[in-house]
Amino acid sequence: AVPVIAIDGPSASGKGTVAARVATALGWHYLDSGALYRLTALAAQRAGVTWDDEQALAVIAARLNVRFDSDSVWLAGEPVSAAIRSEVISAGASQVAAWPAVRAALLFRQRLFRRAPGLVTDGRDMGSVVFPDAQTKIFLTARVEVRAQRRYQQLRENGMSASIQPILQDLRERDERDSQRPVAPLRQSEEACLLDTSDLTIEQAVEKVLAWHGE
Ligand code: CDP
Repeated sequence: AVPVIAIDGPSASGKGTVAARVATALGWHYLDSGALYRLTALAAQRAGVTWDDEQALAVIAARLNVRFDSDSVWLAGEPVSAAIRSEVISAGASQVAAWPAVRAALLFRQRLFRRAPGLVTDGRDMGSVVFPDAQTKIFLTARVEVRAQRRYQQLRENGMSASIQPILQDLRERDERDSQRPVAPLRQSEEACLLDTSDLTIEQAVEKVLAWHGE
């Protein structure tokens, strides 16, 4: 089977950045699974479907017309990289992700990204549900205060005004929602290596993943 490195973890842990860099280092494909939930939330908003309509959301998820290229995400031919990162869509993504029918609709799409020579992917259930046979499974996290600081800096770098307290609040709420939901809750599985990046640079975190993978 085509090898997979599955990196799961909470919001703003840095898993996306680390996963993308590991993929580049190995010359492998990369899947940001959270983007699919974000795209479902955005496509629903545009179609006038609310984030509590499980069946309609599942149809939208199954039919998403999406394309990923090296630095953009496209929805129905339109660039949406910035739109899917807005605070409203971030909250919507975590709501649509709680519906079993939505998760089921996105399952096969995620598996299509598994192509030679290998796949690096990040999310909440990559090692537990989507790619249970992944060769390398990592639970990447950081203290919530560190994650809030990182999100804050990211927003500032993108020219948005931000303050720490509401970010911290939002992360705590999302951690709670992602870990308490009945389907695919966020938690560290026994087989996953724990990587706490609170006191690591991105480069150090990438090195650790590559070392665990055996490179
Ligand atoms: O980076 P951040 O965690 O803020 O966001 P993300 O990874 O893009 O995920 C957005 C939302 O999608 C999360 O709050 C999760 O609820 C959901 N998600 C999920 O349920 N399963 C995944 N494999 C990936 C994301």
